[in-house]
Amino acid sequence: MPRLYRDVLVWDASRTRAERSDVLVARGKIASVCPSGSRSGYDCCVYEGRGNTAMLPGFVNAHGHAAMTLLRGLGEDLPLMDWLEKRIWPVENKLDADLVYTGSRLAIMEMLSTGTTCFADMYFFMDRVADAALEAGIRCGLSRGIVNDNDGAKLEENLKLARDYNGAGGLVKVQLGPHAPYTVSMDRMTAIADAALENDLGVQLHWLETSSEWGTSGFEGKMSPEEYLVKTGLIDVKSLALGHGVWIDKKYAPFYARQNVAIVHNPKSNLKLGSGVAPVAHMISSGVSVALGTDGAASNNRLDMWDEMRFAVLLQKGVNCDPTLLSPQEALRMSTVAGARALGFTQTGLIKEEYDADFILVDLDRPHYAGLNEENLPGYIVYAGSSCDIRATAVAGEILYENGGFTAIDRDGVMAAALLARKKLIS
Ligand code: NI
Repeated sequence: MPRLYRDVLVWDASRTRAERSDVLVARGKIASVCPSGSRSGYDCCVYEGRGNTAMLPGFVNAHGHAAMTLLRGLGEDLPLMDWLEKRIWPVENKLDADLVYTGSRLAIMEMLSTGTTCFADMYFFMDRVADAALEAGIRCGLSRGIVNDNDGAKLEENLKLARDYNGAGGLVKVQLGPHAPYTVSMDRMTAIADAALENDLGVQLHWLETSSEWGTSGFEGKMSPEEYLVKTGLIDVKSLALGHGVWIDKKYAPFYARQNVAIVHNPKSNLKLGSGVAPVAHMISSGVSVALGTDGAASNNRLDMWDEMRFAVLLQKGVNCDPTLLSPQEALRMSTVAGARALGFTQTGLIKEEYDADFILVDLDRPHYAGLNEENLPGYIVYAGSSCDIRATAVAGEILYENGGFTAIDRDGVMAAALLARKKLIS
C-alpha cells in the first residue's frame, strides 16, 4: 500500500531551501512531493510529520569494510602500515564466510540506526555480505577486495559476485575492488580495469591514503598517480570511487573532475590513523565530486555518517583557517547523492519523483533544533544535530529502523552472534 508522509520538512541537495511537503511513497519510489496540506491520505497509510519532522535522503557510506565491526578496538593508535601488518591482517586471515556475514549484519544494524541507507563494502566472502544486505533490505555497492592476485582468482571471484548479485533485489550493485596500487601489481590493475570496462562495472580503490603510499607502491619517480590511472585504464571505468585521496596534489585536482570519478573522503579514519587531511574544499572548488565514507570500524571507530559530515566541514574550515569553506549544504550533498553516484546509483540520493524512496526522518522536536526553519535547516542538521535524532530509516520505501528498533532484523540474535564471532576471532 502507498504511504503518505504528511507535513514533513523536505530537504535534499537539489534544493536551496527546505519545504513543508506531503510525500507519497509507492512501490519503493518517491511517487510525488507536493506542498504540505495538498494531498489527502484517504487511499494510503499516513505518517504524520506534524511539521516537526525532517525528511532527508538516507546517507550513502561510500567507502568501508563492514565486517570490520568484529575488529573494532584492535591496534588502536598505530600508524597505517603497522596497524595493518601487525594487528589487522593477522586477524583477517582467520575470517571465514560466517564471521564476515555476522560482522556485516552487525555493521548494517549500526548503519541503519545512524541513517545510512546505502553502503559501499570492499572485503572478502562478499556473497555473504550481499546475503546480509538483502536480508536486511539495505542498498549497497559491493566489491571483492583484491590483493596480489597473480593468478587472477580473486578477480574471477569478484566477477562471479557480479554475475550472481548485480541488481539483486533492486538493491545491490557490484564493483571490482582492487585494494590499492601498493597491494596490486600494475599488470593486474590493468587487467582489472579491462575487466571492469568489458563487464560494465565500476571500481572501488584505496587511493593516496598516506604520504608514503606512492613510495611503497614502487611507482614514485616513474609516473605520477594520475598517469597511473590513465595507463592502467582505471580512469575510464564506468564509476571510479577513489577512497581517501588525502595526498592528491592540489595542482592535479582538475584531473579528477570527471563525471565517472569520485573521491570518497573519510575524515575520521584519516585523522585516527594520522594519515592527514584531504584537500576536500580545493577539490570541490575544482569541480571534483566528493563523497563521504566511514572506512572500517577498526579505524574510525563508528559507522555514523552524521559524524563524518560534521568532521568534514569543521576540518576544512580549521586546517585552512577559513570559515567560509565547505557549507553544510555541501556536506549533505557529499553524504547523500554524491555517494550514490560514486557507486553507480543514478536514481538514489534525492527526495524527488521517480527516485528510490531511501530516506531518514529526523525528529526536530528537540532543544537543539529550536529556531530551525526552511532556510537554515542544513546548518542546524550538520552543526547541531546528531544521528540520535533519527526517528526512522527507510530503504526502497520500507521502514527498516524506527524509534530505536529494527523492523526486519533480529537485533538480539545479531548481537549474540557478533559477540561469539568476536570471541572466536580474537581468542
Ligand atoms: Ni578502506
